[in-house]
Amino acid sequence: MTNEWLDPDKIKSKIALKNQHALVRLDVFDTIDSTNTYLLSQAKAGAPSGTVCFAEQQTQGRGRRGRSWFSPPGTNIYCSMLWRFYELDAISGLSIAVAVILMDVLKKYGVPEGIQIKWPNDLLFSGRKLAGILLERNDTGVVIGIGLNLYLPDNSDPNWIALQEIMGQPISRNSLAGLLVNELLEQLAIYQASGLLPFLKKWKSYDALINQMISVHTPDSVFSGVMSGVNEKGELLLLDNEGRMQTFCYGEVSCRWI
Ligand code: BTN
Repeated sequence: MTNEWLDPDKIKSKIALKNQHALVRLDVFDTIDSTNTYLLSQAKAGAPSGTVCFAEQQTQGRGRRGRSWFSPPGTNIYCSMLWRFYELDAISGLSIAVAVILMDVLKKYGVPEGIQIKWPNDLLFSGRKLAGILLERNDTGVVIGIGLNLYLPDNSDPNWIALQEIMGQPISRNSLAGLLVNELLEQLAIYQASGLLPFLKKWKSYDALINQMISVHTPDSVFSGVMSGVNEKGELLLLDNEGRMQTFCYGEVSCRWI
């Protein structure tokens, strides 16, 4: 548990001068159902790119595939940012880029080596989940939701891990939140201008699954083979047991150690 509450001014103080114009609005809520749900409604009402919110707790935090996201008060980071794209076909590339951005945030905060990304965008440490990303679309607007575990109770799911356990020291929530907003503002503009390409090199060095035997579970079937990286759209490449390269833009991945 932390005694550092989120403070909009402290968060904003971490945003570089060159990125400040891109931050339109930043709210910190004590309690909200879900920061993503809130921003989706703001997007409908016409809110622009660079609208951001955090919450101390979520009563209906949402994860991918209809799962709920554990969101107790005053401990972790629950953040959403709205970004509008001029044109956006698929969000598989964006979902990879956001995971790379989150890795950059953790590196800038001083987190030691060892965190990896499980396609498309789960951040893992020793196979345990540290952070998750939920992208939700609304016309050209995308709500980017990030949940980052900083402190977890002793009795929590052993498949999860908190940053405090990795770093072995107290975590400054406001510093991390500020770094997160700063990197998102800066790097989403890069993604908007240049697409996924500038992110792919880093992705390769963070890929937790590369060359591993994996199974990709889609609603219709399960495909097994060797994970062979991602393509320029951020889709997963799987060399199947018949020697064919298959691509996946969605699906749940499992392997022996995750
Ligand atoms: C996942 O299942 O891995 C994605 C989890 C995303 C959780 C975050 S917390 C902030 C934002 N609001 C939500 O309701 N979900 C996302």
